[in-house]
Amino acid sequence: MIKGRINTKRRLGKINRELYGHFSEHLGRCIYEGIFVGEDSEIPNTNGMRNDVVEALKNLDIPALRWPGGCFADEYHWMDGVGPKETRKRMINTNWGGVVEDNSFGTHEFLELCRQLECEPYINGNVGSGTIREMSEWIEYMTFDGESPMANLRAENGRKEPWRIKYFGIGNENWGCGGSMTPEYYANTYNRYQTFCKNYGGNKLYKIACGPNAGDYEWTDKLMSIVRKDFVDAISLHYYTVPGGWEKKGKATGFSKKEYYETICGTLNIDNMIDRHWEIMGKYDPEHKVKLIVDEWGTWYEVEEGTNPGFLYQQNTMRDAMVAALNLNIFNRKCDRIDMANIAQVVNVLQAVILTEGAKIVKTPTYYVFEMYKRHQGAALVDCFLDVPTKEREGYAIPLISSSASVNEAGELTVTLANPSLEDEAECSIDLEDGYKEVSGTILTGEMGDFNSFEKDDAVKPREFTEAKLTGNTLEAKLPACSIVTLVVKA
Ligand code: AHR
Repeated sequence: MIKGRINTKRRLGKINRELYGHFSEHLGRCIYEGIFVGEDSEIPNTNGMRNDVVEALKNLDIPALRWPGGCFADEYHWMDGVGPKETRKRMINTNWGGVVEDNSFGTHEFLELCRQLECEPYINGNVGSGTIREMSEWIEYMTFDGESPMANLRAENGRKEPWRIKYFGIGNENWGCGGSMTPEYYANTYNRYQTFCKNYGGNKLYKIACGPNAGDYEWTDKLMSIVRKDFVDAISLHYYTVPGGWEKKGKATGFSKKEYYETICGTLNIDNMIDRHWEIMGKYDPEHKVKLIVDEWGTWYEVEEGTNPGFLYQQNTMRDAMVAALNLNIFNRKCDRIDMANIAQVVNVLQAVILTEGAKIVKTPTYYVFEMYKRHQGAALVDCFLDVPTKEREGYAIPLISSSASVNEAGELTVTLANPSLEDEAECSIDLEDGYKEVSGTILTGEMGDFNSFEKDDAVKPREFTEAKLTGNTLEAKLPACSIVTLVVKA
C-alpha cells in the first residue's frame, strides 16, 4: 500500500496552460497532409486546415503551438512564405528528407491555424541562416499597427489588422543544426538579435533563448553568464527519450520489457536535469526571473518500416502514453520553473498525438493522456506527497507510482496517477482535507505495446475507472499494472 496525503490548502504555484503545448515543424507529414491540405482538398477543411485534426486538438484545449521548427526554423526565410501562392519560392528542406518545400503554408496560414485552434502561437525565428533585419521585419510584419513598410505589405497580403504574438524563439538548437555555435558566441548573438525584436503597440514579446541539449550544463552556465537577463524571459531545454541510443534506436512497436523499462527510466531523467539546469540558472539570476521552456520532449524511435527516414514517422503505444503521463506529472510539479512545454510533434512526427493517412485519423494513446490531464491546465498545483519507493525492474530503478494534483477555480481536486509497472498493481491510500464528498475517475490501460491503428483505432482508449473510493477523508485507488488514472474529487 502506498500511503500519502494531499494538502489542498498548500498551493505551490499555477500550472501554466502552456505546459500542455505542442510543436509543429515543416517536417515529413506534420504540416502538409497532417494539418494543412489546402482549400481544394477533398478532405473536409476550413481555409485549408483539416477539420478533423483541428477538432481533435481543440478537444485537448491545446494552449500553444510552436512553428516553423525545429531545425527547419534556422533555414526558414519567412518572406518566401507570404504573398500570392503562385509566386512563393520553392526551397529544399535540407534537414528533413531533402524534399521540396513550396511555402504554401506560411505566416498567414500558421496564424489562421492558431485562430481556429484558439491557441497561442509560438514562433521560432531564424538565427542560424537569417539576418537581424529579417527577424526584426518579421516581428514588424506580424505585430505593427500603423503605417510601416512591413505593415503595408501585410495589408497588401490581405491582413490589415496586426496579430498578437507573445512567444518568440530566437534561434533553435544553435549548438547544432541552428549554426553549430559555442555558447559564448550564441549568447552574444542572442543579445544582439533580441535588441531588434521590438514590442509594437500593446504587443509584448516573451523572448526565448536557445538553451541546452539535455544534460549539457556547460551550455546553460555559459549562456546564463552572458545573456542579458533583463532581455530574456526563458531558455529552452530539449530532451528526447531515445531507448537504445542515437546510433541504434529501438523500435516504436514490438519492443521488449527491458526496452520498456529503459524508456521509462530514461524519460524520468528529465526530473533531475531540470533541477540541475535550474540551479545553474540561479547562480546568475538568483530571483529566477528567467524560466525554462521544454519546447521539445518525447520519444524518438526508428521510423516505421518503408517510410522516409527523414520524416520521423513512428507508431505510438501504451509505453508512449506512460512517458507522457510521467513527464506531465513532472512538469506540473515544477510549474514554478517551467512556463511552457511542447511535445514533439503534434501530428505524424515522433511522439505524435494524432496520426493521419489520407482522410483517416487516429488518436494515439499519448493523445488520451493529454485529454485526461487537461483539467490541470491553469489550475493551482497543490502539495501532493506519496511515499513512493523505487523497485528494480529489468535492471532499471522504477518508482512505484508517479503523481501530481491541482485544484481548479471551482475548488475541484484533480489527481493524476501513473503506474509504470508491468507486473504489479499499485494500491494508494491518500489523506485529503475535510470536505470532499465524491470521486470519479478515468483510466487508460493496456499491454505495454498496444497501439491504435487505422484498422483498429480504439485498441487503447480511456474508460471509466471504478476502483477509487472516498471513505471519510481518505482517497483510495487501486491501479492495475501499466495504467494511468485521473481522479476528480469534489466537495
Ligand atoms: O523534432 C525534431 C528535431 O529534433 C527538431 O527539428 C530539432 O530541433 C531537434 O533536434
